[in-house]
Amino acid sequence: MTAYTELLAQLPNQPKTWLITGVAGFIGSNLLEQLLKLDQNVVGLDNFATGHRHNLQQIKDAVTPQQWARFNFIEGDIRVLDDCHKACAGVDYILHQAALGSVPRSLEDPITTNGTNIDGFLNMLVAARDAKVSRFVYAASSSTYGDHPGLPKVEDVIGKPLSPYAVTKLVNEQYADVFARAYGFKTIGLRYFNIFGAHQDPEGAYAAVVPKWTSAMIHNQPVFINGDGETSRDFCYIANTVQANLLAATAQHPDAANQVYNVAVGDRTTLNDLFEAIRVTLEPRFPHLQGFKPTYRDFRAGDVRHSLADITKARTLLGYAPSHRIQEGLLEAMDWYVSDLTK
Ligand SMILES: NC(=O)c1ccc[n+]([C@@H]2O[C@H](COP(=O)([O-])OP(=O)(O)OC[C@H]3O[C@@H](n4cnc5c(N)ncnc54)[C@H](O)[C@@H]3O)[C@@H](O)[C@H]2O)c1
Repeated sequence: MTAYTELLAQLPNQPKTWLITGVAGFIGSNLLEQLLKLDQNVVGLDNFATGHRHNLQQIKDAVTPQQWARFNFIEGDIRVLDDCHKACAGVDYILHQAALGSVPRSLEDPITTNGTNIDGFLNMLVAARDAKVSRFVYAASSSTYGDHPGLPKVEDVIGKPLSPYAVTKLVNEQYADVFARAYGFKTIGLRYFNIFGAHQDPEGAYAAVVPKWTSAMIHNQPVFINGDGETSRDFCYIANTVQANLLAATAQHPDAANQVYNVAVGDRTTLNDLFEAIRVTLEPRFPHLQGFKPTYRDFRAGDVRHSLADITKARTLLGYAPSHRIQEGLLEAMDWYVSDLTK
């Protein structure tokens, strides 16, 4: 039995109250689904900056009416301290996901990214501290490795940030560390590496690569690869990310808290490989994808060339054991994409 299967068996007998910020977004809505299915009480906070009401509706459809009744949604903004205080009241664990993602968005509008990702983060820390929550788990990012060339990425060795977004995620870690020292508060940062799966937005200029390419392929539109396609990433299926969050919130290891952890699989996939993996997965349902080729264009500013995680620390201190490698994740995610994108 893994630490996670044990936790899944145990949680329904010990319902807790969880706050998910960014609950209408990709990762937040997946966390909501899993926690409600485990009969937990969940408070959700979101201002719909990039999240969607239809994500919440899809979770409502996926759980029982009794489970849905345990969800309390607050429409609010983490940049407003009062909204954060309201959301934190009576909460045991916080899974803080709300932020403005995307490196290019932060290069175009660093001020708005800073407001949400740093001011909003600090508000959440203050509200969580005041509410005396047991643990504050937050979405950190692999972008914190910045220009450090070393592979695989190990938590203690980082470079200089390459974008305003990366600065905000580094500052989050520093604030969390200071709150732990100054207020005896327990935080855990999860450095996500390219997460993909159901409820991830395929639309807009800042869409992530898996939903964007999947949508383009289904609709027979061009797929653009920035650079030569040999840029590589450690793509991580959402089920692994949900696992890491639940383990982080509840981990009992004495050294587990006040740390940051890589959340990935430990596999390196180039963009050319990813293109082919998505194409092959979709081809049986979309015959026009036979022989379908990508269009190459310039490298994108702010992108790191290679990213690959060492996940030893999360394995050791959290008991994290990824359940899905990229191909298994793509197979599972494609059903959702196909039904969502062909409506
Ligand atoms: N998806 C990835 O691959 C990835 C990688 C590294 C880090 N992250 C981090 O994970 C977290 C979740 O990302 P996601 O992919 O689910 O993105 P997402 O855009 O789908 O979700 C973010 C959610 O936060 C909400 N939000 C934004 N600003 C807010 C504000 N001021 N007040 C309240 N809510 C606000 C949005 O409306 C949205 O629902 C973010 O912190 C992101 O930086 C994601």
